[in-house]
Amino acid sequence: VPDFPIAAIRAAFPGLERLYDGKPVVRLDNPAGTQVPASVAEAAARCLTDSNSNVGGYFGPSIAATHVVADARAAMADFLGAASPREIVIGQSMTALTFQMARAIGRDLRPGDEIVVTAMDHDGNISPWLSIAHDRGATIRMVPFDPVTCRIDSAALDAAVTGKTKLVALSYASNVTGSVNDVADLVRRARRTGALVYVDAVQYAPHHSIDVQALGCDFLACSAYKFFGPHLGIVWGREALLAGLHADKVRPASDDGPARFERGTPQIELLSALTAAVDYVAWMGGLLGAQGNRREKIVAAFEGASAWETILVTQLIDGLREIDGLHIYGITDPARYAQRVPTVSFTHRTLSSDHIAEELAKAGICVWSGNHYAPETMKLLHIDSDSALRIGIAHYNTPQDIVAALAALKSIFAEVPV
Ligand SMILES: Cc1ncc(COP(=O)(O)O)c(C=O)c1O
Repeated sequence: VPDFPIAAIRAAFPGLERLYDGKPVVRLDNPAGTQVPASVAEAAARCLTDSNSNVGGYFGPSIAATHVVADARAAMADFLGAASPREIVIGQSMTALTFQMARAIGRDLRPGDEIVVTAMDHDGNISPWLSIAHDRGATIRMVPFDPVTCRIDSAALDAAVTGKTKLVALSYASNVTGSVNDVADLVRRARRTGALVYVDAVQYAPHHSIDVQALGCDFLACSAYKFFGPHLGIVWGREALLAGLHADKVRPASDDGPARFERGTPQIELLSALTAAVDYVAWMGGLLGAQGNRREKIVAAFEGASAWETILVTQLIDGLREIDGLHIYGITDPARYAQRVPTVSFTHRTLSSDHIAEELAKAGICVWSGNHYAPETMKLLHIDSDSALRIGIAHYNTPQDIVAALAALKSIFAEVPV
């Protein structure tokens, strides 16, 4: 990790150097969306000049546009370890796709059937299931997480899954506490009674490689703008399962493959940018010395990036723990940092999280405060103000970024009697 090529990586991200009101900013708002490499922005622009056409035609630009779509599916198949690009559905966002997939998956639910959701999830993996359960008369069961480990206990999942469970929706990593679930184990337990498992990997995907086949789940969703790409969501689903689902589509559109679930004309410029984002990650793997195919380079890239991120999150949590009056949610034991992504949320005894975020903004530190669209998580953690301050690290952050954030926090709290 001392060799982590941070200078070369930062040089790839022009957004990190931008000035706002003439001043630089420190991007620690990453869980809400990351910066993109120049190659990603350029791919979108180039697509609009060089491949700007609808897909499926006989003429050159249309053939190029058709390739853009196929390339994006192939890139995401490599990114997620999918068996085939035919398992990749791409759409507006994780939330939009999950509402749509929930409708397709839940179409035949009946009264008495059960869907299990968790309090650890972003509402993007709760509300779509509430909605379809409501419409079909199915029952929702909410699994709590352990407030100490901030992970889902296998016993808690076992208690919720019954012979009536048709689907379990759970998260890979929390967007509030950063805790990572043992998804393979939870999937095994959920599937014992034949339930399908839908995994929200939005907060995991920017930090670690994902292997959908090793996880054993049935569906997995992520968002490209959280992993250095454009504003698109992606759902991986087993090919046979996808093929068996009803797709709400217009009649003339093809009924073959994942495009059944992609309504209307594809956002080809964003798809082109998506391929570039995956290629960026593979490029980072190459920088770190990986050889081999794109998938192997992606795996190596995240191994290097997550080791770097662990150094930064250790520095951040060590610094936060020195500040009086803070309550940090999630794992703070360094021995367990492998069970968290570098997303750290906290509240202060007297100052509101929104006030702290505003003061940090004045110091050029970009962070989010609020419920982070995870209202069940906020409730279980007894964050009564419904707002926590969240600092989220990406691999392009530096030790200096953390020093700047901690210094700004200390000066905010210095003026407050605790
Ligand atoms: C864990 C998690 N799931 C889902 C979402 C929703 O993703 P999208 O914005 O693509 O709908 C987010 C966004 O913050 C998230 O953090």
